[in-house]
Amino acid sequence: IYHTPELTPSSGVPDCAIAIDVLRATTTMVTALAAGAEAVQVFSDLDKLINESDSWPTEKRIRAGERGGAKVAGFDMGNSPLDCTPEQVQGRRLFISTTNGTRSLERVQKAGAVMAGAFVNRRAVVNYILSEAPETVWIVGSGWEGSFSLEDTACAGAIAQSLVTELNLPVEQVAGNDEVVGAIALYEQWKDRLLELMHQASHGQRLLRLDCDEDLKYCVQMDLLDVLPIQREPGVLVKRR
Ligand code: MLT
Repeated sequence: IYHTPELTPSSGVPDCAIAIDVLRATTTMVTALAAGAEAVQVFSDLDKLINESDSWPTEKRIRAGERGGAKVAGFDMGNSPLDCTPEQVQGRRLFISTTNGTRSLERVQKAGAVMAGAFVNRRAVVNYILSEAPETVWIVGSGWEGSFSLEDTACAGAIAQSLVTELNLPVEQVAGNDEVVGAIALYEQWKDRLLELMHQASHGQRLLRLDCDEDLKYCVQMDLLDVLPIQREPGVLVKRR
C-alpha cells in the first residue's frame, strides 16, 4: 500500500496496480463505466484533455474537469459520480482530469495491469486479484497533493483485509508491512461508520464545504457496482468483461 508513488526503476514494476481515490475520481470512473460510458481517459493536464478530446464528436465525449473539489469552468461536469447517469454518459468517452486521482493513475501506468478501485467496487477488485493471482499488487492511495488520505487508506485496508481473509494468508505474510497492517486496522475500526470517516477526513470536509454531502453518501456504498475499470492502453480504462 503506497501513497502516490512514482514508478521508478528502483521501485520495480508491480504486476498489478490499483489506484484508489474514493473521494471521488475512482468512484466516478466506476460509476461512469457502470452507466455505459465507452471508456474513461485520464489526464493530469487540463489542456491536454481539451486538445485530445477536440478530435471527438461532441455527442461521443463528455469532459470532466475538477480542481480543489470544484468543477473547472468550461467543462461539461466536475468530478461528481452523481453526474454519471446513463443519460449523460451512455456510449460516450469520459475525458477526466482531477486534482489527484488521475495523476496517481498516470503514475502507475507502466504496471502489468492497472485498475481503478473504490468502496463501490471493492468486491470486483478483490475478485480480480483472487482469480488472476498477480505476484505483486500495489494498492495506491491518491491522497491530496501527495499527502496521506484517510479515506483512500481505509479503502486499501478493505481490499487488503478481504485478500488476507479469503487467501487465508498467514499473519507473517503481512506482519512487518506497516502500511498493510495499518490500513487493515483503520478499515476494521471504521467499517461500520464509513460516512462518519468521510466527515472526519480533510477532503471529506472540503467536499462538505462545497455542499457535496450526497457525494459522500454515495462514495461509501460498499460493493455497490460489480464493475472493474481496467487499463486497455495508457491512460484509457474500460469496463473489464
Ligand atoms: C481528486 O482527484 O483529488 C479528487 O477526486 C477530487 C474530487 O473530490 O473530485
